[in-house]
Amino acid sequence: MERLQKVIAHAGFASRRKAEELIVEGRVKVNGKVVKELGVKVSPSDRVVVDGIPVEREEPVYFMFYKPRGVISSVKDDKGRKVVTDFFENIEQRIYPVGRLDFDTSGLLLLTNDGEFANLLMHPKNEIEKVYVAKVKGIPSRENMKLLERGIKLEDGKTAPAKTKLLSMDKKKQTAIVELTIHEGKNRQVRRMFEAIGHEVMKLKRERYGFLTLKGLTPGEIRELSPHEVKQLRTLANKSS
Ligand code: URA
Repeated sequence: MERLQKVIAHAGFASRRKAEELIVEGRVKVNGKVVKELGVKVSPSDRVVVDGIPVEREEPVYFMFYKPRGVISSVKDDKGRKVVTDFFENIEQRIYPVGRLDFDTSGLLLLTNDGEFANLLMHPKNEIEKVYVAKVKGIPSRENMKLLERGIKLEDGKTAPAKTKLLSMDKKKQTAIVELTIHEGKNRQVRRMFEAIGHEVMKLKRERYGFLTLKGLTPGEIRELSPHEVKQLRTLANKSS
């Protein structure tokens, strides 16, 4: 179920605010009846009409994207920088990213036009695992890795228990590659966790989201999720929230 004004806006009829005006002005019908109150929710089977014109509901679509570095996780940027939806020019649906990866972070990002699905996956109670691989300055000690695992106090709260794996180290260059598995999505969480233990992140990539991996994709490539994968993601999110 989605709010009526959102459905109208999504179909490209008007902005969310303008859609609210259309409703209040009595220009919107749901299943043949004028609806003037805001906050009414409609399901995909409800027939929505604005000024006598049926609102075509978009087919829900679900994509996985290998975000390259140097791209904003947004649908537009005031400064004209590249955004993730620039890679989806052939897709007519109005999709947006599920959560975000920093400008300098590469890796797996989901995009959809299904608001309910996006909210479900982004719900903070969700324990969907996200696996990151970070190249860090210096070589973290075993104790510091334990701190990451137990949880780090950040200014917006303590991080939940995490898993770590030291994948490799370069003693000469004093750098290390560390895998960090978390299930939260605080802003710049991985970078801040490493900073808190004294290791600056030089490079960051999200390699896995739940059971989804980047296998078969190169940076900038997209692939549609199968109906089965979408169903599995819903099940995973529901199970953990
Ligand atoms: N953590 C970060 O620090 N950056 C990201 O892009 C994702 C997680």
